Order: sequence, then C-alpha cells, then structure tokens
Amino acid sequence: MYQASIIGTGSYVPEWVLTNYHLEKMVDTSDQWIIERTGIRERRIASGQETNVTMGAIALERAIKDSGIHVEEIECLVVGTNTTEPVWPSAGGHMAKLLDLQRDLPFFDVQAGCTGFNYALFIAETLVKSGQYRTVAVVGTDKLSSITDYQDRNTCVLFGDGAGAVILRQSEREGIIRSHLGGNAKLRDLLTLSKKSSTGNGYIKMEGRKVYTFAKRAMVQSCLRVLDPSGTADHKELRLLFEQVNKIIPHQANARIIMGAAEELESRLELPDGKAREKMIITIEQYGNNSCASIPLALDLSLRSGKLKRGDLVILVGFGAGLTYAANLIRL
Ligand code: UT7
Repeated sequence: MYQASIIGTGSYVPEWVLTNYHLEKMVDTSDQWIIERTGIRERRIASGQETNVTMGAIALERAIKDSGIHVEEIECLVVGTNTTEPVWPSAGGHMAKLLDLQRDLPFFDVQAGCTGFNYALFIAETLVKSGQYRTVAVVGTDKLSSITDYQDRNTCVLFGDGAGAVILRQSEREGIIRSHLGGNAKLRDLLTLSKKSSTGNGYIKMEGRKVYTFAKRAMVQSCLRVLDPSGTADHKELRLLFEQVNKIIPHQANARIIMGAAEELESRLELPDGKAREKMIITIEQYGNNSCASIPLALDLSLRSGKLKRGDLVILVGFGAGLTYAANLIRL
C-alpha cells in the first residue's frame, strides 16, 4: 500500500467583512451575545458574482502553486460542498473547467454538510493509497450566505463564506494516517433547509441547542476513534496516543463547542486541565462557520502563520448536517 501526503495547501475568503455591529442593525442581537455564545466577531461574505466554484477554484490554484506541481499533474478532483447553484452538474466540473485541468480528469462532489471536507479527504486518501491515482486535489468550499436567512438571528450570526484546498500525493513518507467517518441519519431534521427563500434555494433551519449537544459528543468520539480504530485501547493507552497529537483542527462552528469537546477529552483521558484545549486551533473569530471551507482554511492559515509545521501530527475533526461527523489523522 502507498502513503498519501499533503504536499500543498491553499485558501480563499471574500473581501467583504460582515461584523457583529452590522448584524446588530439587521436582527435583534448584540456583539456581546455573539462573542460570548459563539466566539465570532466577523465573517466574510461573497459578492454576487462569487460562488462556491469561483472561491474553490482560487483556493485550488493557490494549493497547486504551493505544492509546486503543474496543473496537468492532477489526476482526480474531489470537492466537499453543499451550495452549488444550480445543484447539477457538479461544482467539481465547473472548477476543472475554470482551471483548465486535464481533459480526462474525473471529478465529483461530496455532500455531507460541514463534514464534506473530511469525507472528501478520506475518499482522496483511499484513491491515492490504493494506487489508483498519484495526485488528487481536494477542495472544501461553501457560500453559506446564499442559504442564510438574514432575518433569523438563530442562524445568520454564525455563517460565512470561503474555500480551502489541499493536494494529496503518493509518497514514501507517512501522510494521511487514517480517517474515521460517522453519521446519525435519525437526527437529520435538526439541520435542514426551509422551503421559502427569495432565491428559491431554501434557508438553513436549525435546532441549535440539539446540534450543539450532538457536535460536542461526535467530535470527542471521532477524535478517539481515529486514534484507536478498533476501540480496544484503555484510557491510559488512549491518553498516550492523544499526547502525541500536536494540534487539532476542529470544524469552526462555535468556540464553545470546540472548548467543550476539549474539556470532555481532558476528563475522559484524565489529562491535566487545559492539555486538550491548548491543542485546539481556532479561527472562528474572524471567519465564522464557513462549512466545508472551515477546516482546510484553518489548516492553510496555520501552516502559513507557523502554528503548524511539517512533521506535526494533527487531527482534523468535523460535524454537520446529515447529521454527519468525521476525523482525519494526519502527519503533515
Ligand atoms: O456547522 C454546523 C451548524 N450549526 C452549528 O454548529 C450550531 C450549533 N449550535 C450553536 O452553536 C448554539 O446552539 C447557538 C449559537 C446557535 C445558540 O447558542 P445557545 O447557547 O445554544 O443558545 P440557545 O439556542 O439556548 O438560546 C438562548 C437564547 C434564546 O432566548 P430565550 O429563549 O432564552 O429567551 C434565543 O432566542 O438566546 C436567544 N438567541 C439570541 N439572542 C441574541 C438566539 N440567537 C440569538 C442572537 N442574539 N443571535
């Protein structure tokens, strides 16, 4: 079996910044409520011309440049996204056309709510490890503003737009070590689209509290299962495995969910206070929840700022509509 390493990353966020102060003028909310309950101060909103495809294409172009490969070397494109307009055909095809990727390239979208990037990365991991393809591009991109109701204070304060991408390549060294995928379809109705909206797409409708409770539990479970796939390690063995992890990049939905999951890990693994919390990478303050973009965007920003470096052991962990959840264990 081959290894699959990340050889380049890229990201893109739109220019327009929607702050909590703007939102105070739009719905009955306050900067203080939003910061205290979510950790978000601002988010980026795409212009009318920008789509999940155009944002994803820029992120991918940057990842290609970062990896130093030629665009022709990409043999397959996997896109995690939820907001393609029109929904058919795929965002992957639009992106491949925009970037002039090779003619016989296979491309497809993965729709798994905000967990789309984790699922897409797992698929790319198996394609590279099996020897099917040598170089696979993975994009996470969403324009949640197109399905957000800016009259609903329960949701509009949370979401933003953006894109991130990675290039996976067959290699000798350890890369994506393994992934864990989960889902609970019985909870599907907690996060859906309402029928009415001006664009006809529908708006996000969410039972926030219930999603919050699910998210915390799912992230803890997925982090532990990706470290111990057979589920046989006792808590001391799990703690040793966990201590080797340098950083965790969680889906950026709510800073309280992230810190709550970290506290739960500390308690389950009997870790000293703060030992899991200090591993958590948080970018939500500036970007809000931009769905499939949140994890690859945080990965790219962290590598650029030096928060992460090559050789680090990292868990990417997400959850989202479906309800779905997943984690990828990676040696950068
Ligand atoms: O990618 C996955 C997508 N979704 C998520 O990850 C969301 C998960 N859920 C959450 O992040 C949180 O549940 C929220 C941020 C959505 C809400 O925070 P909460 O601490 O769970 O608040 P709550 O829903 O229990 O609401 C508390 C109060 C309610 O008022 P009453 O009933 O106590 O009078 C809400 O109506 O806060 C009110 N509220 C607001 N107040 C000011 C809800 N949204 C707002 C708001 N500004 N924007």
